[in-house]
Amino acid sequence: MRLSPRLAKIVDLLILPSRVIDVGTDHGYLPIYIAENTASSKIIASDYNKQPCEAALNHIQQAGVEDKVEVRHGSGLSVLNRGEVDQVVIAGMGSRTIIGILEADYDLAQSLERLVLQPMAGSSSLRKWLVDNNFKIIDEALVKEEDKLYQIIVAQPGKMEVKDDFELKIGPILLKKNDELLEDYFNELKDEWQKIINKIAENSPDNQKIEILKRRIKRLEEIELKMER
Ligand SMILES: C[S@@+](CC[C@H](N)C(=O)[O-])C[C@H]1O[C@@H](n2cnc3c(N)ncnc32)[C@H](O)[C@@H]1O
Repeated sequence: MRLSPRLAKIVDLLILPSRVIDVGTDHGYLPIYIAENTASSKIIASDYNKQPCEAALNHIQQAGVEDKVEVRHGSGLSVLNRGEVDQVVIAGMGSRTIIGILEADYDLAQSLERLVLQPMAGSSSLRKWLVDNNFKIIDEALVKEEDKLYQIIVAQPGKMEVKDDFELKIGPILLKKNDELLEDYFNELKDEWQKIINKIAENSPDNQKIEILKRRIKRLEEIELKMER
């Protein structure tokens, strides 16, 4: 199985071999790759829709790893018994869905060693939820696929101190780590904020939000300058 850059980066952030579940697996590619390339003792592919479960099972059978990957039909972590896996991947969903999955089975989520989360949108709110709910962000990564930038957040149960909301907005580890895609990421954020400024300014040029966004852009530029030195 050859993985896309996004899925390959997610696998890189797991500590393998391990006991692992891919929640919302859809095609099942990630668990198949883990089965083919690692000696992981338990690999579960789950999805709450029937059709993706069937697709995953087909792919698993085609790859000949049906003795290594188990398909489970159901929502989020509810398909698991406590202590069955050590690591979880929840990828390719919105932050709200990911938060909903973690909230629904919070005690089980708190018993995991490592959570590799790849939200399609709203990563700041996912980070905020994690630190407000006794999860520590221990790693973060950026990956580009077909010109789209994705953020991956690795968490584990535990307390985390953050300086301010800005850190959570950008990513506390991304701010420290010299990711090769950081410049692209910062440019994307600055463009996004500038567009919002322009839009607000059309109707209410005195709106306080403009100043807040300008300050955010300035802060990113200062970080970029420091990194260049
Ligand atoms: C866009 S696909 C992502 C597939 C794969 N994880 C990836 O990143 O390429 C999202 C999948 O998540 C599943 N899904 C959404 N909410 C879910 C939930 N609460 N529990 C399990 N699966 C869920 C959907 O059925 C769908 O197959």
